[in-house]
Amino acid sequence: MASASKPTSRRDPGNGPLIAPSILSADFARLGEEVEAVLGAGADVIHFDVMDNHYVPNLTVGPLVCEALRKRGIDAVIDVHLMVRPVDDLVRMFADAGADWISFHPEASEHVDRTIGLIRERGCRPGLVLNPATPLNWLDHVLDALDLVLVMSVNPGFGGQSFIPGALPKLAAIRRRIDALGRPVRLEVDGGIKPDNIRAVAAAGADVFVAGSAIFGSGDYQATIARMRAEVAAAARAAP
Ligand code: DX5
Ligand code: ZN
Repeated sequence: MASASKPTSRRDPGNGPLIAPSILSADFARLGEEVEAVLGAGADVIHFDVMDNHYVPNLTVGPLVCEALRKRGIDAVIDVHLMVRPVDDLVRMFADAGADWISFHPEASEHVDRTIGLIRERGCRPGLVLNPATPLNWLDHVLDALDLVLVMSVNPGFGGQSFIPGALPKLAAIRRRIDALGRPVRLEVDGGIKPDNIRAVAAAGADVFVAGSAIFGSGDYQATIARMRAEVAAAARAAP
């Protein structure tokens, strides 16, 4: 495994493994404090779940809330996970609101390659999200244009669901494709990630770990993030 480069700033978190708390499980009435608390507790990236009650059966927050976090001084990477249809208007709005990474579901875009180009054109890093039943061939012609592949290990729409084990072979297959590509593409996993399964997920090749309920539902954000990081490090040590 390549040695981790040191982060140069909050917006450039280096190439080591990243812990990304999902705001979906935060106390929305105190969102700014919650985001500061997880960053103070050692989180690397803020995962920002956007749901439209159309692509998924739930409704969350939009670009105004992302902008409010920036105005408050949050300077960490904001990783926007768009669970919306259509996609492109919200890409523009989130780029203007201070997003760093923007991921979308290919089934929700009429023109996947165009949406990827739009995200990059707007100065953000593009990611493609694969649901549990979405096949890997969506990556065939676009992997080289991506900075991030996000594997859903639950069906999108809600926090607190159980990890779907079929995500493990999927992660391993994508890891092989990324390694063969020879350029850095982040492999993120989202859904049901806990301290007791994160080691297996890291061993399968993920390097960005979204966790909502496991972190925000724990009494001690710092201890939970530290435990997750230790498990990821244990997977790296055990790697051949
Ligand atoms: C689900 C969201 C996830 C969710 C994860 O649609 O994309 O980011 O917040 O929550 P947990 O970690 O509780 O499964
Ligand atoms: Zn998410």
